[in-house]
Amino acid sequence: MNNLLLEVADEIAVVTINRPKVLNALNTETLTELGECLAGIERRKDVKALILTGAGEKSFVAGADISEMVNATPAEGRTFSLLAYEAFGRLENMPQATIAAVNGFALGGGCEISMACDIRVASENAKFGQPEVGLGIIPGFGGTQRLSRLIGKGRAKELIFSADNIDAQEAYRIGLVNKVVPQAELLGYCRKLAVKIASKGSYAVSIAKYAINAGLDMDVANGLKLEAQLLGLTFSTADKKEGMTAFLEKRPAKFTDF
Ligand code: HXC
Repeated sequence: MNNLLLEVADEIAVVTINRPKVLNALNTETLTELGECLAGIERRKDVKALILTGAGEKSFVAGADISEMVNATPAEGRTFSLLAYEAFGRLENMPQATIAAVNGFALGGGCEISMACDIRVASENAKFGQPEVGLGIIPGFGGTQRLSRLIGKGRAKELIFSADNIDAQEAYRIGLVNKVVPQAELLGYCRKLAVKIASKGSYAVSIAKYAINAGLDMDVANGLKLEAQLLGLTFSTADKKEGMTAFLEKRPAKFTDF
């Protein structure tokens, strides 16, 4: 891969978007590689959680690559957006838990890719924003949909219409990020969280992820019915037997389903 780094150790994959000269801006090649990389990871049984970050200390992802978009036609713009939907959709729906380690600018497509992750952890120097209307376009990698679901309609509209950047503390205050840590501790914190998640029943984590994601597209009554069915499914697993037996025997569980 020309634009990504992938490391797998201790059941955790770290995917680094690696275009530091342009602050890790997302071009067609990067999005294509990301989609392929995630398609490979989602099939791996030895990967239980994924951390996504950006190369360097300044930027997570500074958005879609403006130099690629400047002369693009409407049809090319749409194709570019759909390429991101595919890659970000994998991130959102893959069975493994995903954590965005936001180590600097998360603007436009950078904020949008972080929102496709399950959990966002930001370093103190991180900046979030959706600057697209200042470029004469709209957030087109999921921002008009995921931002309002995460932080509510009013705040999403203010951020998108004003094109203002906000700092990590403000992102935390409005619920855009789960946690803010010093930059030097960012990857360590995310790794610790990923290891904790990986130590649980990974099939159960994947089913819980599915229930939350699918439930948000339903009314509560149907979401609750879905949850009951999925809970029933988890009662059929070896992990359920092991987890509950281990509790009763006062020993750590050894989970195997994934
Ligand atoms: C292409 C980018 C880029 C981007 C930065 N660069 N962001 N190139 N696309 N999104 C390049 C710069 O051109 C520059 O290249 C180098 O990275 C360093 O950036 P500087 O601007 O010199 O750094 P700095 O002054 O520190 O400012 C950092 C910044 C600024 C505030 C993040 O770069 C910036 O505003 N970037 C654009 C952010 C943005 O508007 N993102 C949204 C894109 S639209 P050179 O060659 O000069 O060294 C989007 C839409 C998604 O994401 C949906 C579309 C379908």
